[in-house]
Amino acid sequence: MTDTWNTIADWYAERLRTGSAMHEFSRDILLDCLPVELSGQRILDIGCGEGIITRTLAARGARVMGIDPSPRMIEHAQAAERNLPTGALYAVDDGCTLATVATDSVDWVTAGLSLNNVPDLDAALTAAQRVLSPGGRLAFTIPHPCFEAPHATWTDAAQGRPRRVVGNYEDEGFWRSENPQGVRRAGNQHRKLSTYLTALIAHGFLLEATAEPTASPQVAVEQAQRAGLPPFFLVLASSRR
Ligand SMILES: C[S@@+](CC[C@H](N)C(=O)[O-])C[C@H]1O[C@@H](n2cnc3c(N)ncnc32)[C@H](O)[C@@H]1O
Repeated sequence: MTDTWNTIADWYAERLRTGSAMHEFSRDILLDCLPVELSGQRILDIGCGEGIITRTLAARGARVMGIDPSPRMIEHAQAAERNLPTGALYAVDDGCTLATVATDSVDWVTAGLSLNNVPDLDAALTAAQRVLSPGGRLAFTIPHPCFEAPHATWTDAAQGRPRRVVGNYEDEGFWRSENPQGVRRAGNQHRKLSTYLTALIAHGFLLEATAEPTASPQVAVEQAQRAGLPPFFLVLASSRR
């Protein structure tokens, strides 16, 4: 069977439930872009998965909706909400259309490690612009495309400290990891850094901040070879509408 986000949803939810330093790091750097106090703020979390970011936003006081095209991911998010209510709402939806989300209805759009999964970045940014109120903001993380290009690997540890080997940076498009334990066995879309930034500008977003945070100490314990490489690229942009 070919893996999809829906078929690996149980595995992904269990991985996050038992503690994944990488996912907690990606959540924390994204949430650091938003005010601590979010009471009254309307937020849409695109590609919410099992809700790691959505429920944290709700716990800060936001009125937040998480959407994801995987029904199984949404079931996990809703189960977590029943278990420990935060007020977060969830719906099955596609980030390329946002058919369940009204125009001009949110102050923030967040997207943690999900825009690298949408097949059509232009459609996703058009949809995000549509649902954002004028001056609303978009904050997202993606795996750093310079280091997480298709089939990037590591040099042999026997040769000293492992170094990242990246050879397919120009190969934009869908690719799937052959690692049976890797998140990207479900497949994802590789795009160059300039493709993301150019698309944001073309869709009327004003770049406010970008960052390449160094891996947290917790990530360094789990994956020492990542020391000195930023695992994620972070963008904060505002709608110029
Ligand atoms: C790496 S997970 C991230 C989930 C969550 N944001 C987190 O930080 O754990 C990527 C998510 O993107 C979702 N995704 C895939 N295609 C999508 C699309 N077209 N629109 C929105 N989300 C999508 C997947 O179903 C999956 O839940």
